[in-house]
Amino acid sequence: MIQKSFVMMKPDAVQRRLMGKVLSRFEEKGLQIVAMKLIQVDEELAKTHYGEHSEKPFFKDLVSYITSSPALAMVIQGEEAIPVIRKIVGATNPQEADCGTIRGDYGMDTGRNIIHASDAPESAEREIALWFNEDEICEYSIVDNAWILESIKNYIFN
Ligand code: RTP
Ligand code: MG
Repeated sequence: MIQKSFVMMKPDAVQRRLMGKVLSRFEEKGLQIVAMKLIQVDEELAKTHYGEHSEKPFFKDLVSYITSSPALAMVIQGEEAIPVIRKIVGATNPQEADCGTIRGDYGMDTGRNIIHASDAPESAEREIALWFNEDEICEYSIVDNAWILESIKNYIFN
């Protein structure tokens, strides 16, 4: 099933000039960027986004981290995009994340783990609505999809 996921490159990704490399991983995988904006996250947005962690001991530091510098917010679309993107992102603790994942390749600390991605369809829906207006999400077909997804091959093969 085609899904949309909310993905955010956290302030460390922006500050470490990793945005291009990280974005390439999603593009090269065959996923489609349908919305993107660089945003200075305020405290209210950070707290709402990470509301499920409000009682955790790391919550204050997490909000401080996410609001410390601009973040790159995105909506990424594709076949089973939500679980596929979580795999590309890797485990929460970059020291435990597999090599080849974004966190495994670029991170060293849970508190500086580079990127967020929605963990389920319900959270994706909530997060996309929280970060983007509907008119900021682009619906467009992309020409190489027929070479990436067998299900739509008939689009160019008879
Ligand atoms: P995210 O929501 O950012 O995609 O990360 P996640 O699902 O892999 O992990 P989650 O449990 O939702 O944690 C959210 C973010 O909080 C920070 N964190 N710090 N110091 C700590 O023990 C700790 N645990 C979590 C991380 O930035 C984590 O990504
Ligand atoms: Mg999470």
